[in-house]
Amino acid sequence: MRMYDLIEKKKQGLELSTDEIRFMIDGFTDGSIPDYQMSAMTMAICFQGMSKRETVDLTLAMRDSGDVLDLSAIEGIKVDKHSTGGVGDKTSLALTPIIAALGVPVAKMSGRGLGHTGGTIDKLECFPGFTTEISEETFCKNVNNIKIAIAGQTANLAPADKKLYALRDVTDTVDQMSLIASSIMSKKLASGSDAIVLDVKTGNGAFMKNLEDSRALAKAMVSIGTMAGKKTAAVITDMDQPLGYAVGNSLEVIEAIETLKGGGPEDFKEVVFALGSLMLEFAGRAKNQEEARGLMQQVIDDGSALQKLAEFVSAQGGDASYVFDTDRFPKAKKVTEVKAVKEGFVHRILAEEIGIACMTLGGGRETKDSVIDLSVGIILKKKNGDAVKKGDVLALVYSNDDQKLEPAMDKILHAYEIEDEKPEVGSVIKEFIFE
Ligand code: URA
Repeated sequence: MRMYDLIEKKKQGLELSTDEIRFMIDGFTDGSIPDYQMSAMTMAICFQGMSKRETVDLTLAMRDSGDVLDLSAIEGIKVDKHSTGGVGDKTSLALTPIIAALGVPVAKMSGRGLGHTGGTIDKLECFPGFTTEISEETFCKNVNNIKIAIAGQTANLAPADKKLYALRDVTDTVDQMSLIASSIMSKKLASGSDAIVLDVKTGNGAFMKNLEDSRALAKAMVSIGTMAGKKTAAVITDMDQPLGYAVGNSLEVIEAIETLKGGGPEDFKEVVFALGSLMLEFAGRAKNQEEARGLMQQVIDDGSALQKLAEFVSAQGGDASYVFDTDRFPKAKKVTEVKAVKEGFVHRILAEEIGIACMTLGGGRETKDSVIDLSVGIILKKKNGDAVKKGDVLALVYSNDDQKLEPAMDKILHAYEIEDEKPEVGSVIKEFIFE
């Protein structure tokens, strides 16, 4: 078999066989297929697409390129949750302690932020001392003892995806549906949970900008998970504005803690409850959505979800006192107001622009090696549908460097689309996708 012939086949729009896909992924992982051939293939896939069968084969080949975790030492049904990446998306920080407080094991692999989207690991590292670099043994022990552990993706978990993602990132071949679906699902299948709940973002701040493409991505991932023998469902959620009010690492952690105390933004709580109720149903902890929502509210009201967050932070080396005293998180030196220059109603807040503004302030990564400033970020004061007068504060910017402040403020102002008519603002939950 020759990679050259496989590129030609895909260029002609023909389907690759299961063996051909295995050959390609195995060769790319061990280095016998060079980056330039793989780049040509990913570009051909962008133009010609992949069938459902090819997408499943690609996922399984990438899953099998490294370790597949065995979580059988953990009792109970392990349910994983994954988001396709958004701005202000601190969902895992509030959701996972709620689920664990209800006795359902959460054994989760998370990532760091890249580009305009944030990552759970960076947010968790706002707790001094916290580490996601824990051994498999500690990981399983913590889940058995306190029902929750979050680890970083180990080097040998779906290494083919790691290599391929890095290549796609620099060859403009990230936003292809089969490539995204197989990338995410190969890691989820390798990380060993029994069921998977996916948060597929849709809108300006997401990889998939419209509902039709997001639905296709969600369906592809749900069908891959189901075919691989895992209960899988997806919720499509809105990214035509950032989720909640806070964008930036420690600001987002504080907002998640507020939510666990019973406050928090409505749209954020909706996402947490929608994903959480699916997780509880899959784990057999609740019979239906209504029961699941009641249970989630109960552990927020009685403080046990907040207590679980503290227990989890402490078990992974972090200072849990921050959970109960959020004033301890490092503060940016300066807080500046961004004011409206016209009157009207907020129609859309370009989430990607807000994410880039946060990155410009130093709160996000431009390259994998960037060191990030955990204290900077943005608090939105107006969201979609809100009325705005000229001079009203749209957002507060938390910054440490005056040179970075001006460009970030310009981006935030540009992100707000203000029109004369009051818009219809729909729910943050767009659709549920089941097999
Ligand atoms: N997240 C991933 O892990 N892979 C993609 O391709 C896109 C988002």
